[in-house]
Amino acid sequence: KQQSSVSHLHPIDRAASPHSYGGKLQVPPIAAAQEILETAILDATTEAIAHEARTGLTATPKTLSPWLFYDEAGSHLFEQITTLPEYYLTRTERSIFATHADQIIHTAAGPESQTLTLIELGAVTATKTALLLRAAVRHPGTVVYQPVDVSESALDAARENILANIPGVTVRCQVADYTREPLPENRLPNTRTLALYIGSSIGNFTPHDARDVLRNLRAQLLPGDTLLLGTDLRPGPHKDEATLLAAYNDASAVTAAFNRNILARLNRDLGANFNLASFRHKALWNPTESRIEMHLESLHAQRVHIPENSTGPALTLDFLPGETIHTENSYKFTPSSVEALLQAAAFKPIQSWQDPKHLFAVTLATAIEQPI
Ligand code: AVI
Repeated sequence: KQQSSVSHLHPIDRAASPHSYGGKLQVPPIAAAQEILETAILDATTEAIAHEARTGLTATPKTLSPWLFYDEAGSHLFEQITTLPEYYLTRTERSIFATHADQIIHTAAGPESQTLTLIELGAVTATKTALLLRAAVRHPGTVVYQPVDVSESALDAARENILANIPGVTVRCQVADYTREPLPENRLPNTRTLALYIGSSIGNFTPHDARDVLRNLRAQLLPGDTLLLGTDLRPGPHKDEATLLAAYNDASAVTAAFNRNILARLNRDLGANFNLASFRHKALWNPTESRIEMHLESLHAQRVHIPENSTGPALTLDFLPGETIHTENSYKFTPSSVEALLQAAAFKPIQSWQDPKHLFAVTLATAIEQPI
C-alpha cells in the first residue's frame, strides 16, 4: 500500500502552462507573469499535499508519502542528517567514490575517447558527484553533466556548483520527473551515457516501483550505456542491526525532527492542527520486507482536524494510543537482490564496490538489449 505509485514520490513542482494566462492574447509583464507562475506552482503543490493527506490518513493503517518530507525545512533537515555521525550512508558512499572513481569512469567510458554524458537522477550538487566528474575530466574525451530533477532551483544550484568548481564539464539541466517521465531526448552524437542513481534513493521505492523507475531509465539508454546504482546493505555477517537502526534513530534527534516535519507541513500548508509533541518518531527494522520503516506514533488517543480544501470536505482524524502513521520505507539490499533488481530492468551488473566494513554497495551495470 505504502508508496504504491511512483508518481507519488515527487511533488508537483511545475505550474499550469503560463501560455494559458487569463485566456488573453496580451503578454503579461515579467514580474506579474512570474507571480502567476509561482502562485500556480503553490496551488498545484498544495492540492497534491491535500490529496495525499486525504487518501493516506483515511486509510488503515494510516500512511503519508515520503515526498512530503522535502519542503524547505525538511530538505534542510535531510542535509543535516547526511552529516550525522550515525548516518553512515552518505559518507560511506563518498568514500567508495573517493577510492574507485577512476576505475568506475574508465569502465563506464570504454576504451575509445568520445563524449561521456553523466546523467544524474535527482540533482544532488553533492561532493560525491564531484568526485566522479573530476575522474571523468581526467579521462580522455568530452564530459557532459546532465542532472535531471523536478525542481528548477535545485538544477540551477547544481549548474552553478559544477561550473564554478570543475572546469572542463559542460552542464545541461533537464527538468523532469525521472520516476515516470521520459528523460528529454537530446542525446549528443558519438556519446556514451553513464546514469547516476546514487545516495540509496532507490531504497525509498517498493521493489515493484524501484523496478519501474529503472525500466523508465533503461528505456532512455542504448545498449552499452551504464548505470551506477548506490544501495544500502541489509544487516548480515559484516553489518549489525544496531548500526543500521542508529542511522535512523540518531542521538541528536534530527531524524525525529525530519519525520515530524511531515506533520508540521500539513499544519503549515493545509491548516491542520497536529500537536507535534503528541507523536513519537519510531524507526524499526522489518527483516521480512528488508526495510527500515519510519512511523509517527500517537502517544495517546487524540483527534486532529484538517479544514476543507479543494480536494474535499473537512477531515476529522481519530488516533488510538499507539496508532502510527507510516511515513517512509528505506529498503536494504544484498548483492544478489541488487543484481535481481538490475536484471529485471534489463541491466547487467559489471562490477560492484563496497566499503571495507561492507555497509554500502555501489554497482555498475550495463544496459542490455531489452526483451520485446
Ligand atoms: C533519501 N533517502 C535515501 C534517505 C534514506 O536513508 O532512506 C531518507 C532518510 N530517511 C531518514 N533518514 C534519511
